[in-house]
Amino acid sequence: MALLALLFWAYALVFVKASPVNNGDESLARILNTFQIMDDKDVINAISQALKEASASNDTCGACVGRLAIGKSLSLVRPDLVPATFEKWCNDNKYASKATCATNYHRNTLDASTTGSNFADMLQLMDPYGYDGQLYCHYKDNAACPKPKTPNVTMSHLWPEKQAKHMLAPSSNGSETFNVLHVSDFHIELDYTVGAEVNCSTSMCCTPHSINTKSNVSMNTSLGWNSFYEGSHYDDSNFSFVRGTKLSNPFHNVSIPAPSFGHYECDAPELLINSSLNNVIEFAKNKSLDFKFAIFTGDLVDHDEYTYTDYEMTVKSEQYIMRDMKSRLGDLPVFPVLGNHDTFPYGELAQEGYGFSNKFQWNADMLAEIYQDYGWLDGKQAQYARHHYTGFSVTTKEDLKIISLNSNAFYKKNHYCYWNATDPDSFGQWKFLIDELVESEKHDQRVWIITHIPPISDSLPLPSKIFGEIVERFSPSTIAGIFFGHTHLDQFNLLYAKDSKSIDNVINMAWIGQAVTPWVENNPSWRYYEVDSKTFSIMNSYNYYSKLNETFANDGKEPEWLFEYSARDVYNVSWPSTAPLNATYWHLVAEKIKSDVSYRQLYENLAKRWSPYVPDCSKGKNCQTDYCFLSTFIVDDYDKCVAPLNK
Ligand SMILES: *[C@@H]1O[C@H](CO)[C@@H](O)[C@H](O)[C@H]1NC(C)=O
Ligand SMILES: *[C@@H]1O[C@H](CO)[C@@H](O)[C@H](O)[C@H]1NC(C)=O
Ligand SMILES: *[C@@H]1O[C@H](CO)[C@@H](O)[C@H](O)[C@H]1NC(C)=O
Ligand SMILES: *[C@@H]1O[C@H](CO)[C@@H](O)[C@H](O)[C@H]1NC(C)=O
Ligand SMILES: *[C@@H]1O[C@H](CO)[C@@H](O)[C@H](O)[C@H]1NC(C)=O
Ligand SMILES: *[C@@H]1O[C@H](CO)[C@@H](O)[C@H](O)[C@H]1NC(C)=O
Ligand SMILES: *[C@@H]1O[C@H](CO)[C@@H](O)[C@H](O)[C@H]1NC(C)=O
Ligand SMILES: *[C@@H]1O[C@H](CO)[C@@H](O)[C@H](O)[C@H]1NC(C)=O
Ligand SMILES: *[C@@H]1O[C@H](CO)[C@@H](O)[C@H](O)[C@H]1NC(C)=O
Ligand SMILES: *[C@@H]1O[C@H](CO)[C@@H](O)[C@H](O)[C@H]1NC(C)=O
Ligand SMILES: *[C@@H]1O[C@H](CO)[C@@H](O)[C@H](O)[C@H]1NC(C)=O
Ligand SMILES: *[C@@H]1O[C@H](CO)[C@@H](O)[C@H](O)[C@H]1NC(C)=O
Repeated sequence: MALLALLFWAYALVFVKASPVNNGDESLARILNTFQIMDDKDVINAISQALKEASASNDTCGACVGRLAIGKSLSLVRPDLVPATFEKWCNDNKYASKATCATNYHRNTLDASTTGSNFADMLQLMDPYGYDGQLYCHYKDNAACPKPKTPNVTMSHLWPEKQAKHMLAPSSNGSETFNVLHVSDFHIELDYTVGAEVNCSTSMCCTPHSINTKSNVSMNTSLGWNSFYEGSHYDDSNFSFVRGTKLSNPFHNVSIPAPSFGHYECDAPELLINSSLNNVIEFAKNKSLDFKFAIFTGDLVDHDEYTYTDYEMTVKSEQYIMRDMKSRLGDLPVFPVLGNHDTFPYGELAQEGYGFSNKFQWNADMLAEIYQDYGWLDGKQAQYARHHYTGFSVTTKEDLKIISLNSNAFYKKNHYCYWNATDPDSFGQWKFLIDELVESEKHDQRVWIITHIPPISDSLPLPSKIFGEIVERFSPSTIAGIFFGHTHLDQFNLLYAKDSKSIDNVINMAWIGQAVTPWVENNPSWRYYEVDSKTFSIMNSYNYYSKLNETFANDGKEPEWLFEYSARDVYNVSWPSTAPLNATYWHLVAEKIKSDVSYRQLYENLAKRWSPYVPDCSKGKNCQTDYCFLSTFIVDDYDKCVAPLNK
């Protein structure tokens, strides 16, 4: 056995080093011959032994790269054996917990979010010894390698030189405005169970499988909670609230039972989602807001452990939330993006044209049909979305262009981002974005960009850098707004030219929409924008929230939703009333947050919507990375900014 492993190891090294992405040479034939005389089981054993030997290297980076090289050789001849081989190696050597070994290496199934087949796909295409391997070993294998230097690649050949007239944003000078709704991160917890454990020892609480592993727990009666109504819902025909049946104590083995409308340690029950949407239409009616359209910046599916995240739950979550939005918002067009959770298995998305995108076509087909059926996209736009990862470009009735991108194309957990990773655009999304921007610039049309993951948060460095360059090129004249979700927090990001964060260097900014889900430890919230009807610049944002803790002991009644703040007023920045809340405005806000702990605290209060879990910025290292987050737009800049703070 050891001999076979050694033999294979030698082949793997020679073969992969000689021809990283070629699969038709002599050594391949030799490996195939070796395999033909072996049972699958022997191959799995031999190669998992080779993985063990490669891992014995004293350097974690070399060990990781060595495993990828062996895996690549195997994937070129027997991709079907990659998952079982790596899962065996992972378990035998206790490289991770059994659950994590399964998540990372077990083959794809419908029952749980396991990504071994996607890992095998990636291996077939990647170069373990180049940037791909270093990048993977840094971001997806316990930081085994240091972060590799970001390649100096640009896409600037795709756009014409910027002209002097594009250095200025069109001026609004107090013209008319209209309103746009922004909702984000619903994360429906389909198996939310009233009375289940809130204080669970696993990651997702309030489900039937959430337990507090401390034995013999009993309900903390001093909480004084009473909102334990099962079956509470909003009537489908008139949206009126119907309170369910009160559950009676005792809750067995539960220290803190889940209340009806949700809890800070859990994702959103559909009841809370419906309540938030009802509240949106109530405020819109009472204040005559007359929204022209809505943007939704992604994440429909919850954060349950991967073992419990299955295909059916993913499909249902996507369908339920789209249905709930449609039922409440009626004819209002909704322009959505998908989040990192809105795929199966979790986080994965393959490029068109390299043999694996068919694994994800069901999702794009389903959503394109929903978008078209609900009247959000027309047939042509839906057809585009179907073949471009649900992304699209739409010109609204008001003549604003909205470009929707799927951020899994630059998500650091997506396996398909780790082959040919020096190519910043293997998905073709940046080219699409650039082409649309070039076209709009020609016509002086203004553009909003919507996507889920901010390029500094969980994105890979190279595509994040390219995103920053595109925004710089088309700001401030063409790009009038950029909108993200993902962090669940109410935040923003500033993009500066060069290294200096001075008022003269600020280029553009992005709005990060806060979540409806209370996970983790935030109050549910939504916002709308007041938008200049000529320039489509944002004149103000209005934020609404609900104090979720007030529903724990209110006998199962509905949450109360409140106006939280308007962005123009809350930070006390002196700013002309006719000027939009553009990057210069937010630069002034960021400067206050940087230099004054009371503004830092205010920012944190708003970020988490005054939940009971807001950190105290006057203590320890709390809030110290806030300014870095707000004042950067791309991964490398953020990493550079926080490096001295993390020492
Ligand atoms: C790794 O091993 C080599 C020789 O086997 C040795 O020279 C080197 O110092 C070791 N490195 C570390 C970090 O232990
Ligand atoms: C990156 O490449 C450009 C030309 O494409 C060059 O002008 C620039 O100096 C390079 N930067 C670095 C840091 O190598
Ligand atoms: C703004 O509008 C006022 C009157 O409505 C006009 O006097 C002024 O010149 C305008 N300013 C710009 C910059 O267009
Ligand atoms: C949650 O459970 C842990 C034991 O698992 C206990 O130590 C802790 O006090 C509990 N928290 C609350 C708020 O009851
Ligand atoms: C409570 O948990 C303990 C230990 O996990 C278990 O032995 C016991 O059967 C559970 N009791 C109930 C009523 O579920
Ligand atoms: C379990 O809890 C019950 C009720 O609180 C208590 O009477 C009993 O002694 C506890 N058992 C253990 C083993 O802690
Ligand atoms: C029960 O809840 C009260 C109020 O939140 C808290 O002060 C106390 O520590 C909790 N007790 C336990 C055993 O967790
Ligand atoms: C939420 O609203 C949808 C659409 O009206 C309805 O079908 C669903 O039953 C509601 N669910 C709850 C829990 O209120
Ligand atoms: C809403 O509809 C339900 C079922 O049709 C009905 O029982 C209820 O009275 C209605 N509520 C209101 C406020 O109209
Ligand atoms: C890898 O990326 C480069 C651009 O960086 C591109 O020219 C090449 O075709 C890509 N390789 C494959 C296999 O797509
Ligand atoms: C923001 O608006 C102000 C006032 O209209 C203007 O002076 C400034 O240049 C704008 N900033 C940017 C980055 O466009
Ligand atoms: C809810 O949390 C807020 C923030 O910590 C607190 O001020 C408020 O008193 C809490 N309300 C209840 C009913 O516990």
